[in-house]
Amino acid sequence: MEKINIGIIGGGLMGKEAASAFGRWFTLNDVPFCPQLTAVCDLNEHVLSWYNKISPVVLKTTDYTELLADKSIDVVYVAVPHSMHKEIYTAVLQSGKDLLAEKPFGISLEDALAIQQEADRLGRFVRCSSEMPFMPGAQRVIQEVLSGRLGKIIEIKAGFLHSSDMDLNKPINWKRQSQYCGELGVMADLGMHVLHIPLRLGWKPSAVFGQLQKIVHERPNGRGQIVPCDTWNNAIINCKLTIDEEPIPMTLEMKRLAPGETNTWYIEVLGTGGGARYSTKDTKVFWTFKNGKEQLWQRVDLGFQTQFPVTTGGIFEAGFADCFLQMLAAYIVERGRRLDGKFGCVTPEEAVDSHRIFEAALQSHLTQSVVEVSYADVPVTVI
Ligand SMILES: NC(=O)c1ccc[n+]([C@@H]2O[C@H](COP(=O)([O-])OP(=O)(O)OC[C@H]3O[C@@H](n4cnc5c(N)ncnc54)[C@H](O)[C@@H]3O)[C@@H](O)[C@H]2O)c1
Repeated sequence: MEKINIGIIGGGLMGKEAASAFGRWFTLNDVPFCPQLTAVCDLNEHVLSWYNKISPVVLKTTDYTELLADKSIDVVYVAVPHSMHKEIYTAVLQSGKDLLAEKPFGISLEDALAIQQEADRLGRFVRCSSEMPFMPGAQRVIQEVLSGRLGKIIEIKAGFLHSSDMDLNKPINWKRQSQYCGELGVMADLGMHVLHIPLRLGWKPSAVFGQLQKIVHERPNGRGQIVPCDTWNNAIINCKLTIDEEPIPMTLEMKRLAPGETNTWYIEVLGTGGGARYSTKDTKVFWTFKNGKEQLWQRVDLGFQTQFPVTTGGIFEAGFADCFLQMLAAYIVERGRRLDGKFGCVTPEEAVDSHRIFEAALQSHLTQSVVEVSYADVPVTVI
């Protein structure tokens, strides 16, 4: 077992999620690497104190440069507000460490490109977080597509739906302010999760029509005042794709105002020969469509068939913490060149492409026109 020392910068919601997953590493059966969380950095001392219960965490600091100066750390997971991504990601790379970044991989396309270029220049191993595709049902959708059983693709739909903004009295936080979250709003927040599988399957839209909504314009700040809330709540992106020389519609939805949807990630692919559908709304259910004399949607209750086998019994159902562990396993195994064709984390190129698509969707909304997505480093053009 090769030991890998991990540092976390940004110990909040996702830092704790990562710590919890590294703490359950022993449940993975055949992974020949042993990551150990040894250092955490957060500006907030109260957040840092949460890590007191993890004994291998020997370094706790409020200064990320101190963590990066520690030569024993091999990999750093960074989970900080988007406005800090470029500065901290590039500092990690320049310190000689590998990086597991959080989405959206920079607050803007410009920053995402700068991070990618620095990673390329320094030859570091960099991937970006997106865990939902590691759910067993999501993996089955990918397998159905790759099997060819779907025939000619008719249509693709994917989305990530939250109801987190439905509480109009919820105090504002950095995720609801463009200066910290970015101009892309909900697209930056939820979109990488939605595009991970489409981009991996080569479904890169050539043009988009974006419909964005800012419905909640102000929120309490928790100190008795009402302050502006300037991020996009919801986005629907209608994409033009070409698959086998046919134009194919792909609809992407990212919403924080989706009534009744706590954390619903879904993907549906329909073809002339069959279809596949998975939604975390019904966590263990995988749907396949069979096109015969009678057309049939078939429901299968999945068990714990994860890419990286774990000790959990095969009949039990997987959840968020499980797909997060699977994603970390994919990162560590791919870093060690042992992924062997399994599904991997978002690459820097895919993260940059997601920015290109979201920037085009934003331009589309602002100009109320269809916008071509440019995959070269040139400005988007309005059709
Ligand atoms: N993969 C997912 O499912 C998922 C879910 C939520 C958030 N995220 C992403 O994770 C990142 C963090 O989001 P979060 O929900 O954990 O936010 P959070 O606000 O809960 O935590 C961020 C932490 O970063 C700390 N921080 C801020 N600036 C810092 C600095 N300069 N140095 C050290 N620490 C600093 C804050 O004190 C805070 O504790 C974002 O990029 C977000 O988009 C990913």
